[in-house]
Amino acid sequence: MPLVKLGRLRGKSRVRNWVSETRLGPEHIIMPYFVREGRNVNEPIPSMPGLSRLSVENLLPDIRKARGIKSVLLFGIPKAKDESGTTAYKKNGVIQKAIKAVKAEFGDLIVITDVCLCAYTTHGHCGIVKKNTGDAVDTDATLKTLTKIAVSHAEAGADFVAPSAMMDGEVKAIREALDKKGFKNTGILAYSAKYASAFYGPFRDVAGSMPRFGDRKAYQMDYRNSNEAMREIAQDIEEGADIVMVKPALSSLDIIYRAKQKFDVPLCAYNVSGEYSMIKNLANGDKTREKNLILEVLTSIKRSGADFIVTYFGKEVLKWL
Ligand code: PBG
Repeated sequence: MPLVKLGRLRGKSRVRNWVSETRLGPEHIIMPYFVREGRNVNEPIPSMPGLSRLSVENLLPDIRKARGIKSVLLFGIPKAKDESGTTAYKKNGVIQKAIKAVKAEFGDLIVITDVCLCAYTTHGHCGIVKKNTGDAVDTDATLKTLTKIAVSHAEAGADFVAPSAMMDGEVKAIREALDKKGFKNTGILAYSAKYASAFYGPFRDVAGSMPRFGDRKAYQMDYRNSNEAMREIAQDIEEGADIVMVKPALSSLDIIYRAKQKFDVPLCAYNVSGEYSMIKNLANGDKTREKNLILEVLTSIKRSGADFIVTYFGKEVLKWL
């Protein structure tokens, strides 16, 4: 038997590159942005060093600088919140204005928008909370609001809406509402397997969406479960999702792998805010170490089976690819 010497394929970088199995390209990267109401706002985010909340006229030059960018995921941070999140579907709301401005300048950019209530409700929950029931959400009432939000994003020009509230039936409700209003070509990227995760902490600081009481465990998934993630994804596909998502990414690589084996729709993974902050902390200002960490993590997410990755490192990564 000849000696199998795997090192032969590893010894030189040109051979290593030649046989490498996983490729991370600019088309795989989705860059999230936080858009704030107001003029000339560029407000650094303490828990996510290097990122800012931007008002619309500052968002545009930032996208312009991100050469090779193919898609963005937009989050709105409204001026006013209320009990039921009504500012989320205002015709001239912060996110609706942002979508219009971005599509006007970057027609080919794929604009995806987060559809949820948590940044727009005073209590910070992703749905409408029933009176006197603690943190229980009223799914039917929430679905009505989510469909209004999705339609308002489609009207403003979003290519894909991304429901992230984890309400049962949200994909179906949104698909039907979009079709009824004539937005048959607006797609749905569903946050299908979204775990209740402590890794969303920094995001909630950014959006001011930390629940004022209770937690999100009644609607987001229990991280002890894997079969349930497959059921969530199957159901969303059945309801009309065009693209499905697993989140968070690093603590769900097994779920990404399983989903890729089982389903044949495009699969997205969300490298969430806490994963961003973790790398920033570990790199501690050392740019080389940071780059190595970012590429290792994102390539591993790709290797596990994700077709797309939402990552706050998007702009930096695009420079390297
Ligand atoms: C809205 C939403 C959240 C994230 C994406 N969409 C927050 C949450 O569910 O609490 C988290 C993203 C991140 O942590 O980067 N529901």
